[in-house]
Amino acid sequence: MGYKFATKAIHAGQHADPTTGAVMTPIFQTSTYQQAAPGDHKGYEYSRGTNPTRKALEDCVAALENGSHGLAFSSGMAATETVLKLLKPGDEVITGDDLYGGSYRIFTKVFAHYGIKFHFVDTSEPDHIAAKINDNTRLIWIETPTNPTLKLADIEAIGRVARAANVLFAVDNTFASPYLQNPLDLGADIVMHSVTKYIGGHSDVVMGALVVNDRELYDQLFFYYNACGGTPGPQDSFLVLRGIKTLHLRMKAHCENGRKVAEYLKKHPRIDRIYWPGFEDHPGHAVAKKQMRDFGGMVSIVLKDASLEDTFKVASSFKVFTLAESLGGVESLINHPATMTHGSIPKDVREKVGVVDNLIRISVGVEDIDDLLADLAQALG
Ligand SMILES: Cc1ncc(COP(=O)(O)O)c(C=O)c1O
Repeated sequence: MGYKFATKAIHAGQHADPTTGAVMTPIFQTSTYQQAAPGDHKGYEYSRGTNPTRKALEDCVAALENGSHGLAFSSGMAATETVLKLLKPGDEVITGDDLYGGSYRIFTKVFAHYGIKFHFVDTSEPDHIAAKINDNTRLIWIETPTNPTLKLADIEAIGRVARAANVLFAVDNTFASPYLQNPLDLGADIVMHSVTKYIGGHSDVVMGALVVNDRELYDQLFFYYNACGGTPGPQDSFLVLRGIKTLHLRMKAHCENGRKVAEYLKKHPRIDRIYWPGFEDHPGHAVAKKQMRDFGGMVSIVLKDASLEDTFKVASSFKVFTLAESLGGVESLINHPATMTHGSIPKDVREKVGVVDNLIRISVGVEDIDDLLADLAQALG
């Protein structure tokens, strides 16, 4: 569809139901589909492989990422796992040293056991990636901005490194959402999303997605998708289709509130360090300006001279923000990465990249900004 983002968010992959005229895509709560004769069906055989509600969602997410094919999964980790299944023992992966804890865990505690080697580098320097490439390198996997320290990686520059070495290049686009950044346009082969976050947007569904622009790669991924079965149900697909219709409106509000929260916190005497790519002194600011349409609603802070106990006390004293795992929903969330989302990363490994005990990650929601700032003031006070 040649339409702009907001139109695609509302219409892509969807059309009125031909039997009833229903405007909203129905929840096709069926596991199987009638066949007139063996193999003679309407494109749907069994819902592990395809389901019409899920297909509408997959086409919508693919359109938002300017890709040709999308796949929806029962979680972001199931999507990540499916990409890793393209690999064989002896293959090597180059990835970031500052990643979502669950990605670090699946790399080091699951796929490393199948003979796949992972190299963790600072992906804000494309040269660090190039330096690790060898004949066994099969995949480059990055997050940008990273979770939780919001480091930027230059997708176009890494795409050139990947193409020169004929290596698959995947981008976890969860933190940006397709509204802010489209990695396929910048040279990535695969975009991955934890749909649970901004795309779903209402903290009521766990889901993942992959989008590609290549039929052959899609077929390979679909093989593992259907063979292994990490597929979401039609109810969840419907909820996300509904959530996606306001993605552009929500993202605008997240970015606006994110900026105000970051500007407020930057001047706060209890803050030692703040990570938000919209600041000109953020090391990734130029890359963020080049490849993102705005700076997002994620802000991380390091509290000044705060012990773990002091940090817990601050994290537990919010009234509007909720202390909880996850991000990207309409409600503002506070997270303590060291013990929550990144608890599966050993202390020495996480501290090297700044995931210290006094780091707090904030997912700025779309509530009234005055209430958010007042809550920050009282919790930090
Ligand atoms: C950047 C990032 N990637 C992947 C995931 C995993 O997604 P899910 O929780 O939907 O399995 C998360 C979850 O927090 C995440 O933040």
